Amino acid sequence: MTQIKTNILTPLPDKTLSFKKDQYLSIEGTKIINISSVPDTASFIDHSDAVCLPGFIDLHVHLSQSNARGKHARGLLDWLNNFIFTEEEKSLDPAYATKQAEQFFASLLASGTTTAVVYVAPYPEACDIAFGIAQEAGLRIIMGQTLMDRNCPASLCRGTEQSISESIALYHKWNEATPLLEYVFTPRFAPVCSPELMKGIGEFASQNRAYIQTHLSENKSEIEWVKRLFPDSKSYTDVYERYGLLGEKTLLGHVLHISDEELMILNQTNSKITHCPDSNFFLHSGTFPIQRIIAHKIDFGLGSDVGAGTTLYMPNIMKMLIYRQETYHITLAEALYYATLGAAKVLGKEQVIGSIEKGKEADLVFLKLPEQENENSEDILSYLIYLSQPQDVLAAYIAGEEQYRKYPI
Ligand code: GUN
Ligand code: FE
Repeated sequence: MTQIKTNILTPLPDKTLSFKKDQYLSIEGTKIINISSVPDTASFIDHSDAVCLPGFIDLHVHLSQSNARGKHARGLLDWLNNFIFTEEEKSLDPAYATKQAEQFFASLLASGTTTAVVYVAPYPEACDIAFGIAQEAGLRIIMGQTLMDRNCPASLCRGTEQSISESIALYHKWNEATPLLEYVFTPRFAPVCSPELMKGIGEFASQNRAYIQTHLSENKSEIEWVKRLFPDSKSYTDVYERYGLLGEKTLLGHVLHISDEELMILNQTNSKITHCPDSNFFLHSGTFPIQRIIAHKIDFGLGSDVGAGTTLYMPNIMKMLIYRQETYHITLAEALYYATLGAAKVLGKEQVIGSIEKGKEADLVFLKLPEQENENSEDILSYLIYLSQPQDVLAAYIAGEEQYRKYPI
């Protein structure tokens, strides 16, 4: 058993907070078995100068773009064509893919992210390498090979059948290979995917109850392009519905320019949204219609969307969530919720991760606080969201194991 003395700040299902000072958190195996103001045993790890939060969950991040952040562009399609496709091509080289994945997972841990849903470049070898390194790093990772079979550079374009069979092979190798790894089928977005590819992926994923991730309605030129490519479809959302990609394990990135009819389809299919406010700022994509999304009862959580996002540090993404809404007031507790318990709910894992409770997996992040901020939950969270830096992450635990410590003992 491991026992840690610390101050616990955790979201609650009603999007409020609980804060308790000087607690003893006991871990047995992968799980939290007790939280008490009295110690279970005499020995403990002392994190009493830190605040302990549930490990952050990043619902949308592109591993193979992590070295291409901050490339100034006019908008999504220019940015993809000018910088991102050439960057992703580099992952064809296994040595590059290995080094990049090592750095990426180390940075995630050092940022306090314990669970991430990840896009890898369109090469099965790069995805396989990334899974091996994620396993070594001990992170909770849902990851997939990005798929494109048309309208993209030849070097990134794979055949339709090849894309489907490569993804299925990766799924069989890695999904549930360990308790912490899962596969997500990853058609990039409708403009670069043929109907046959989307249909093939949709069928396999629904038969196997597997995750799917893609992008939806991020940029106005992208939406026009979809209209031209799919003239028979009523909307962008209708394209994904028609080819069987929507469902309760489908994660849709962005979702900015969207009609009420489309939101009704997302609600009826119980599809989920990954909101990426930093990226939406960076690419001038638009504003997330948060009030309409909430009114349509569609679950969403936060994603960094690196490399269109500039940082992996989820408190910065919470800050962008708040900044990005001009009329809707988001509380600090809500901002934390969407990067922890709310994000766990998007994954269907709210009973397992996302908050600090007895019986849940011990996925934890310890953050350093200035002395005077140690008193109440609002002050602490305000500091963490507006002022803290990745350097404030002192330690991270995943499934009961310490996987990161800033100052080794
Ligand atoms: N749409 C299709 N591909 C991408 C991507 O790599 N990043 C973002 N932000 N949007 C996309
Ligand atoms: Fe993205």
